[in-house]
Amino acid sequence: MRFSLGSWCIFPLVAGLVLAINYAAAQQRGSSADSNPCVSKLNCSECIRTPTCAWCAQHDFGAAEGGRLPRCNQQNKYIDGPLAGQCRLEDIVNPDSEFRAILDLALSKAKSGIDLEGTEGRDAVQIKPQRVSLKLRINEAYDMHMQYAQAEDYPVDLYYLMDLSKSMEDDKDKLSELGNLLAERMQSITSNFRLGFGSFVDKVVMPYVSTVPANQVRKAAVSGNLDAPEGGFDAIMQAIVCKERIGWRDRARRLLVFSTDASFHYAGDGKLGGIVKPNDGLCHLNNDGGYTHSTTQDYPSVSQINQKVKESSVNLIFAVTKEQYHIYEQLNKHVEGASCGVLSNDSSNVVELVQEQYNKITSSVEMKDNATGAVKVTYFSNCLGNGPMVQTNKCDGLKVGTVVNFTARIELSGCPIDPKEWRQLFQIYPVGINESLVVDLQMLCDCDCERPGNLGYISNADQCNGGGDLKCGICHCDDSHSGRFCECDSNTAVLGDHEASCRSDNTSDILCNDRGTCVCGVCECQPRPNPTEIITGQFCECDNFSCDYYNGLPCAGSDHGTCECGKCVCKPGWKGSDCSCRDSIDTCIPPRGGEICSGKGDCVCGECQCFEEDGGRYSGKYCEECPTCPSKCPEYTPCIQCQVFESGKLTKEECANCSFTPVEVDVVKEEFPSDRQCWFYDDDDCRVTFVYGYDDEGEFVVRVQKTKECPPVLNILGIILGVIGAVVAIGFALLLLWKLFTVIHDRREFARFEKERQMAKWDTGENPIYKQATSTFKNPTYGGKQ
Ligand SMILES: *[C@@H]1O[C@H](CO)[C@@H](O)[C@H](O)[C@H]1NC(C)=O
Ligand SMILES: *[C@@H]1O[C@H](CO)[C@@H](O)[C@H](O)[C@H]1NC(C)=O
Ligand SMILES: *[C@@H]1O[C@H](CO)[C@@H](O)[C@H](O)[C@H]1NC(C)=O
Ligand SMILES: *[C@@H]1O[C@H](CO)[C@@H](O)[C@H](O)[C@H]1NC(C)=O
Ligand SMILES: *[C@@H]1O[C@H](CO)[C@@H](O)[C@H](O)[C@H]1NC(C)=O
Ligand SMILES: *[C@@H]1O[C@H](CO)[C@@H](O)[C@H](O)[C@H]1NC(C)=O
Ligand SMILES: *[C@@H]1O[C@H](CO)[C@@H](O)[C@H](O)[C@H]1NC(C)=O
Ligand SMILES: *[C@@H]1O[C@H](CO)[C@@H](O)[C@H](O)[C@H]1NC(C)=O
Repeated sequence: MRFSLGSWCIFPLVAGLVLAINYAAAQQRGSSADSNPCVSKLNCSECIRTPTCAWCAQHDFGAAEGGRLPRCNQQNKYIDGPLAGQCRLEDIVNPDSEFRAILDLALSKAKSGIDLEGTEGRDAVQIKPQRVSLKLRINEAYDMHMQYAQAEDYPVDLYYLMDLSKSMEDDKDKLSELGNLLAERMQSITSNFRLGFGSFVDKVVMPYVSTVPANQVRKAAVSGNLDAPEGGFDAIMQAIVCKERIGWRDRARRLLVFSTDASFHYAGDGKLGGIVKPNDGLCHLNNDGGYTHSTTQDYPSVSQINQKVKESSVNLIFAVTKEQYHIYEQLNKHVEGASCGVLSNDSSNVVELVQEQYNKITSSVEMKDNATGAVKVTYFSNCLGNGPMVQTNKCDGLKVGTVVNFTARIELSGCPIDPKEWRQLFQIYPVGINESLVVDLQMLCDCDCERPGNLGYISNADQCNGGGDLKCGICHCDDSHSGRFCECDSNTAVLGDHEASCRSDNTSDILCNDRGTCVCGVCECQPRPNPTEIITGQFCECDNFSCDYYNGLPCAGSDHGTCECGKCVCKPGWKGSDCSCRDSIDTCIPPRGGEICSGKGDCVCGECQCFEEDGGRYSGKYCEECPTCPSKCPEYTPCIQCQVFESGKLTKEECANCSFTPVEVDVVKEEFPSDRQCWFYDDDDCRVTFVYGYDDEGEFVVRVQKTKECPPVLNILGIILGVIGAVVAIGFALLLLWKLFTVIHDRREFARFEKERQMAKWDTGENPIYKQATSTFKNPTYGGKQ
């Protein structure tokens, strides 16, 4: 079943059905899916596998909105967001992670027998809680708190496994002495101590197996073998897996001390001795404690050892001579909880070594788990400090009774494909201790309403027209039905996959281009809010509104063109993607005829686009105007002269060839924006004024003022005579003036002469020119002597 989409859709009623369950996957697949991962989830289990998402299982959810509301949405949107109240609360599927402690005993030390208060003896509790159940959603983490404390007087089982090949013979003697010492020493650590001994040689003799007492060591046989590596792995394996025979207690710290002076044989080495059967990891000890399969089974592998060590919570201690130390140091990295110490060449330090390793083992705790697959556990602890929790699963330096807090963060990265794996039982355990916290994890990978027998699951539901099951609000049709409500009968619908015929592109799952509903194999395109807009086509791929718009109208309005399947089909006379262009040049030619756009522009879409040239820019409907162009006055002058005044230099023929006929007016003035006024002086020195320009209709008009402005005619002879007369008159006047002046002057001189003559009365008897004969002179410098 598929869902197709459209966020605007309003579904029609088809055969009385509300076509409601429809949601815009594709729409959401794009941009909004990035911000809201929920809306692209199309069924309940997909939805709840996405963190923070919740599913609405109400069958008629969103019917009012035409079923375009996503059923899967952010949980808060259902509660106080835009979808609040849209979905009944009981129909919201939003399971929460759920934690429950089933067994949560307090940390305690072991009690044996029945104490004074009458409580029965019980094992020590070192980890708390002990059993929990957890329901967890995918990609949501749960932080589980747990505590670990090493119990006081916790039982210790120590099993000493000795290499009894010839090279260790001296050690054997030593060790038998040390047995008691070891038991004594361990007893000081814990009151609950058991010691066992075993020995091995390489695949010849079975290991000798025994629980306490220590002095039996002396009875153990020593065998010599030829090659250096020893068959210790066989012995380790038997010592671990033969729990009953060895006598390991259920609740005890198990220490398996393995002492040798040689390296080891492991899986595959048996082939040298013709033993090809692999080790089966089972206990094969006979009644005498001898290994029965020494010659029939190969040595175990390192990983087999490791696995058994893990299963049985054994702490393996390699006590090896200095020469072998580096080999076992490597080995101990591959065995959980193993450690390694150097044994002196006569094994004299074994007591110290065991005590040292025991202290090392018990003073640290390491948490491990056997969760698999998609379950991931991360540990956090502040160990002994009070600081913040840091990511670690190991704490050192512990003392008996110290409580260490751990937080185990449990996360699910995905749902296993097999639903059987949706429930996982795993344990979290401190390495080397047979105690664990069992987690019963249930992965919330599907919704109850998708499983029969639960609320929300209806077989052959009426809501699905009896053609399918209603699961979490959506119909899952049977084989013979299809459609969102199983309303299509496969027999009557288009043959085969009826939805295929709703897909325009068979490589995608988008039906009806997201603009319609696939109803029984036929696309029903959505109606639009505006009834003049319609979606058509087999796949709703066409419409008559998504064409280019011009002036707010598709295809520039119905008289220019019509919109067919997203493309404008223009009416004759129009062109362009939006039919806004006139498909003719008529409108570019001035009404009186002439060049297109006056020769000063191009006709584009029926309109002139004017050039820029000669330093001016043309404008106007026909590019006739050019306010900045040089004046055309001199060009028009001759034609005006000849046409209006029949003068000038043009001949009659040339005059008739003039491109315009001037209009004579009384007074010229600039009337139209393009008008330009000119004037010139004709041969009579008369000023002629005219105006040229384009009128409202774009017609070139030249208007000339009828009357020229001529200068008045002058009497040149009169002026000349007048000038001559004036010159003569002025000269005459000057002569007269001069004459008058001289006369006056003469008269004045004569009068003075007369006067002087009268005044000068000399003696008429006396000769005026007579002079006496004597003359007297006086010396002016002579003084006094006279
Ligand atoms: C939910 O959808 C996914 C993918 O669309 C599909 O694999 C799964 O089977 C569906 N689950 C149910 C319960 O229908
Ligand atoms: C761990 O202890 C339980 C009892 O608490 C016991 O049933 C189980 O066998 C022990 N596991 C091993 C590996 O000994
Ligand atoms: C044992 O080790 C000591 C030194 O620790 C050394 O003197 C002695 O020779 C060694 N014995 C053998 C048999 O290797
Ligand atoms: C461990 O957790 C308990 C409560 O769970 C708290 O009381 C105690 O202080 C914690 N200890 C440390 C060392 O953080
Ligand atoms: C983890 O170990 C326990 C006990 O051995 C076992 O019951 C459980 O099935 C194991 N879990 C896994 C996931 O292997
Ligand atoms: C899609 O359909 C065409 C013909 O309709 C067919 O040739 C082609 O193989 C189909 N492709 C797919 C992926 O189904
Ligand atoms: C779209 O088609 C409808 C019906 O044919 C018509 O009424 C409407 O005018 C058309 N709209 C446009 C923009 O062509
Ligand atoms: C008239 O003008 C045209 C071009 O303007 C010219 O070719 C023609 O010779 C002219 N005719 C006379 C008579 O001047």
